[in-house]
Amino acid sequence: MDTKAARYETADPVDLPSVARGPSGTPVALSVNGTAQLVELEPRVSLLDALRERLELTGSKKGCDQGTCGACTVFVDDKRVLACLTLAIACEGREVTTIEGIAGDGELHPMQRAFVDHDAFQCGYCTSGQIMSAVALVGEGTARTDEEIAELMSGNICRCAAYPNIRAAIREVLEATAGATSEGDSRATA
Ligand code: FES
Ligand code: FES
Repeated sequence: MDTKAARYETADPVDLPSVARGPSGTPVALSVNGTAQLVELEPRVSLLDALRERLELTGSKKGCDQGTCGACTVFVDDKRVLACLTLAIACEGREVTTIEGIAGDGELHPMQRAFVDHDAFQCGYCTSGQIMSAVALVGEGTARTDEEIAELMSGNICRCAAYPNIRAAIREVLEATAGATSEGDSRATA
């Protein structure tokens, strides 16, 4: 019996490309920080390597390259992911956002500003990943206490141990966001 064919027959429907690609370089269409990019990549290339080495977006850092440090954190379709564990080719048709893409109109993102104000870094190597994770954490809306912030940021390691200042920066943005939300709620119900 052809077990491979049997497995395909029972798989959920998937949107397979009409032409097999790889293992050599193949054109890969990405959208990064709102800009369409077409790069030639082997399908095995990680999103992190594509960003850093092909698109010259070096803000995302390579700490461990095996999913344990969080320095490479970016958003794919607004969800935080580890770029070192994500294949670039798997991001076709999705929006990738890096640390270079979160500030707007020449202004720092509020989380970037809070990290500066709270001196939430020393060497800075982990910082872009910390900020991306922190922005996601605020958007996820599940952290309220310091303990919850620590838990939900536990995938981002800081070898300089700037954790108290990182948490203070995140708390400030969380509180500002909660304040803005409750003001909006009270205006809506007034
Ligand atoms: Fe991706 Fe460390 S470089 S988790
Ligand atoms: Fe140095 Fe975090 S500031 S690793």
